[in-house]
This record gives sequence, structure tokens and C-alpha cells, in this order.
Amino acid sequence: MSKPKIFITRRIPDAGIDMLAEVAEVVVNPEDRTLSRAELLASVADCQGVIGLLTEKIDAEFFDAAPKLKGYANYAVGYDNIDVAEATRRSIPVSNTPGVLTDATAECAWALIFATARRVAEADRVMRSGAWQGWGPLQFIGQGVRGKTLGIVGAGRIGTAMALMSRGFDMRVLYTSSSGRRNAVLEDTLKARLVPFDTLLAEADFISIHTPLTPDTRHLFDAAAFGRMKRTACIVNTARGPVIKEDDLVDALKNGVIAGAGLDVFEREPAMAPGLAGLDNAVVLPHIGSATVESRTDMATLAARNMLAMLAGQRPETCLNPDIFGPAFFDAERSDRKGGAKA
Ligand code: GLV
Ligand code: GLV
Repeated sequence: MSKPKIFITRRIPDAGIDMLAEVAEVVVNPEDRTLSRAELLASVADCQGVIGLLTEKIDAEFFDAAPKLKGYANYAVGYDNIDVAEATRRSIPVSNTPGVLTDATAECAWALIFATARRVAEADRVMRSGAWQGWGPLQFIGQGVRGKTLGIVGAGRIGTAMALMSRGFDMRVLYTSSSGRRNAVLEDTLKARLVPFDTLLAEADFISIHTPLTPDTRHLFDAAAFGRMKRTACIVNTARGPVIKEDDLVDALKNGVIAGAGLDVFEREPAMAPGLAGLDNAVVLPHIGSATVESRTDMATLAARNMLAMLAGQRPETCLNPDIFGPAFFDAERSDRKGGAKA
């Protein structure tokens, strides 16, 4: 039997590629850049598996271009780039990489909190410019973090990890939940409170966004939302850019409606909203939330394990459309039995 062919749309850590090379013909985009749409579609024509990026749209046109496809593995936890319903209609399994980048992304959110609170990037720019004349009592005064109120928008895996990291700073923690479900870990560990979105806006000193991008969360933060925040508040986004209406954010930062913003993601990546780059109270990072050696390696091996399972016709570990492998009760029963055998 000839080996299946897997296309990886951009070089990922070798640990994942090596696992796949044992059983498949692996082709990696040779260019260190995102493929054009036409290049992507041409590259997947004869592939049984594709590992792709959050920058690629995985939709009906993509699936049409890959008629032999047995599985698509996203090299990302966020999957707003995938039309999961379309994949399911075609019985093509799709997977993402949850869990392995939780701490890295949560730590990145903290980097942005401290950078905005203490004006780190702005101060760094002044040092490098040669303009600093020596210590001064009123220079670069920022805000303290200890004892302040942290607002978590979307208390899933990453939001929970981020909030738990606040323990060293004795923060009061508020969170919102789109499902209305309470987060027992946050409530038990931090006495965190589930609050309506408007309460979080009004009371938080630091807001950190960890919700996926959905039709409900697109532009969740617009001029009206910024208007309800404290004038001293900072907002941090390591989730998806379009959760913030970026033009409104620029206006809010310019006019002192809020104090600062730390952004790892943007509404129209790789572009930034006009005016954003000129604002000293914005800290901007090039979407590096998961960019640690540990996370990027684990993402590669998880994506590879997912791909190997899908090529074998099996359900991948972190599947986005598990129903195509059979009714849910079957899996529930199976995991019950596994649990029972272990006990
Ligand atoms: C990165 O943004 C990811 O979703 O993994
Ligand atoms: C999902 O996006 C998560 O919080 O891991």
C-alpha cells in the first residue's frame, strides 16, 4: 500500500513532522510565509491529511480542493478559521490543539498586564532613543496590580489558568460565562464571582479576554463597552482580534476613555487599526501567545497524533466534530468502562 500524503502548510517543530514521516509522505510548505489561497488549494489536491494554521480558511472550497482528505488538524486551539459544520457534513474529522498552550497563553496575558500597568514598552522605547536624562520622581508612573480587580471574559481553560496566576497578587476576580455556568475552580480557589458583562466592565481594573471568536463575541468590546469601563482600566486580549472593535479601541485609548490596552491579536491581522501604532498606551505583540518552546513542541506532537488517528479512521484525541465517529452515548459508555477498569 502506498503511503498517505500529508501536507503541512508551514514549517512546525520537527517533533511533529518526524512522527508523521514514519508512516506518511510528508510535504512541508518550503517557504517561510503563509501560502496564498491558490497555492494552498493546489497543494492539498492529492493529500489524505493536512495540518494547517489559524491564518487559513478551512471551508467548503478547501474541502472541494482536497477530495482525498481523511482529516484536517489545526495547529491552534482557536478554530474560528474552520467551518466545522461543513467538515461534519462531509464526514471529515477536524482537530485542534487545546490544553498544550494554556499556560503559555495565560502567561502572555500576564506579560501584557504588567507591560500596560507599568508602561514597559513605552519606557523601553525612551531608553533606546537616548532621551532619558536620569531618574525622576514623576517619570513613567503606572498602576499597581496587587489588590486590584481582575475581570476574566471567558473562563475556559486559558481564562481559568490566567485567573489562578493572580494568586500572588491578591486580586479580586470577576468572570463572565457565555453559558452561564459557574466555574467551581475559580470560585473555590479565588472566591471569584460570576457577574453580568456590564458589572465586569464597571468594576474591573484589568480585563483579560479569553473567549473564542463566535458571532456572539465579535465586537463584544466596542465604544459602548469601553465607555462603561473605568477610565483607569486596562484591557488585554490574547484570544482573537475581532472580539474587540479595534477602531473603537483606538478612539478610547486616544481620548482617555480607558487607560491602556495590551494586544496579542488584531482584528485584521497582520494589519493594525490606523492610529494604534502611534499610541504609547497600547502594547502590541505579533500573536505570540503560544510561542514557547514547550507549547509549540507539544502543539506539533498533538497535531501529529491527531493526524495519525484520523488517517487510521479513528477519532483524534482533541476532535472538533466527534459525532462523526458515532453516537455520543457510545463514547460515554466506553470512557465509563475505562474508568471502571482503572479503579
Ligand atoms: C492561537 O491563537 C491559537 O488559537 O492556538
Ligand atoms: C480554549 O480556547 C481554551 O480556553 O483552551
